[in-house]
Amino acid sequence: MNNHERQIEKANTFIKENSNQKERDYQPTYHFTAPVGWLNDPNGLIQHKGIYHLFYQFHPYSADWGPMHWGHATSSDLVHWEHQPVALAPSEDYDLGNPGEGYGCFSGSAVVKDGDLFLLYTGHIDSKNPKEVQCLATTQDGIHFEKHPNNPIIDKPPHSLSNDFRDPKVWSYEDTWYMVVGTSHNGDGAAALFQSDDLINWEYCGPVAKSDGTLGDMWECPDLFPIQNKHALIFSPMKDEGHGKALIQIGDMDYDTKRFTKDYDVEIDQGFDLYAPQTFLDEKGRRILIAWMDHWASKFPTKEEGWAGAMTIPREIKLNNEGNVRFQPVEELKMLRAKEEQYHELNFTKSFSPETKGQSIEIKSSFDLSTTNSETFGLKVLKSDDGEEFTEIKYDAKTSKVTVDLNKAGHVSGIASAEVEPSEELLLHIYIDRCSVELFINNGEKVITNRVYPKNTSNQIEFFGEENVAVKELNVWELKK
Ligand code: FRU
Repeated sequence: MNNHERQIEKANTFIKENSNQKERDYQPTYHFTAPVGWLNDPNGLIQHKGIYHLFYQFHPYSADWGPMHWGHATSSDLVHWEHQPVALAPSEDYDLGNPGEGYGCFSGSAVVKDGDLFLLYTGHIDSKNPKEVQCLATTQDGIHFEKHPNNPIIDKPPHSLSNDFRDPKVWSYEDTWYMVVGTSHNGDGAAALFQSDDLINWEYCGPVAKSDGTLGDMWECPDLFPIQNKHALIFSPMKDEGHGKALIQIGDMDYDTKRFTKDYDVEIDQGFDLYAPQTFLDEKGRRILIAWMDHWASKFPTKEEGWAGAMTIPREIKLNNEGNVRFQPVEELKMLRAKEEQYHELNFTKSFSPETKGQSIEIKSSFDLSTTNSETFGLKVLKSDDGEEFTEIKYDAKTSKVTVDLNKAGHVSGIASAEVEPSEELLLHIYIDRCSVELFINNGEKVITNRVYPKNTSNQIEFFGEENVAVKELNVWELKK
């Protein structure tokens, strides 16, 4: 057994012995969480031979971030995930540091070349004087991974890039492999571009895109990909060591000059809990995004239960006819729908409560703004019997803003808000899962994702308004475990 195999076996044994040891009161029913310990970024998202693979930043040994492993799960439908053995563990001089120091197999991606699956990740050592290099891992069976003998395949950041040099995302375009790596270029957040014919030897092509001075001093987890007739660049910016909100830029990639030019950028999510998103193209041709449904600044009340971190539901990214980016839950999530409550042309004043109660719920509600004369209206979810605890989703017609108020939601605070294009209709599509609320507004024009930690009895739904509220359609589903 080599050291990598030993470290993997040690981690797998620990996971087996320590999963399900503590009762998880906050366990979501359909969001992905680690079997034990800490989880952050999704890594290596890919569909290979029909099977979806989700790898993730994983510290099995405690509920805090620590030496990074790659956890692994597979799915045939993007909804039901099966835990697999740990894929990568720190084991070599380029990804194993001294005890007590942050080190490990940092974020990265997966590709399929000639039918085989490959992982690309950052080896990180020495937290005081970080050394970050890019590495390759191979597999025969898609379950057991070996580190490539040529590692590190990129052994230092090229001139003018900082020591922050991580999170390789690889794709192929017209028979050439390209890799973006998150970094800082002369002090500005940037994505460094490399190209290769064989995934082993890489040539530096310069920064493919960088901050204009307003978008952070370091870009984590860049992701560059074709989308319809454009390209998109996603990254999670940092400034002064703090983490900002993940952005998507839509624009054009010139593969001759090796530069990406943006038309515009927007936040991927207006909530507090979405970071380090990664996308992949599935076999149906969809561009799917999964993100860490937390943020480095989030509270993690679940740590007391021995775990921290969850993934968002998978979201499909598309450009509409005007070229604006839209995020929609993947259609497979419909298979979770159980008992349904349904209304057409429902009018209420002040308050309306559907019969359905629960903490694993999907709600779809379209409001007729032309006949609603309430200036503000909305709904409370995860509401307690005494009405003291709730997450409030509210629309304000004067400002065209949707807000999600967390101040009574349990263990969190703040108000997230998103402005939407004025229109005759407002569409709210909500996924609730014990300790999260994901809100898709107007078919993914804006998304607001938040973690909330209510009591397990706070399960009511209540619509409210000041005057008349006209609901064209309302569907409430209990979701299956
Ligand atoms: C983003 C990030 C990455 C890094 C990983 C470490 O959340 O900081 O840049 O590779 O997490 O776990």
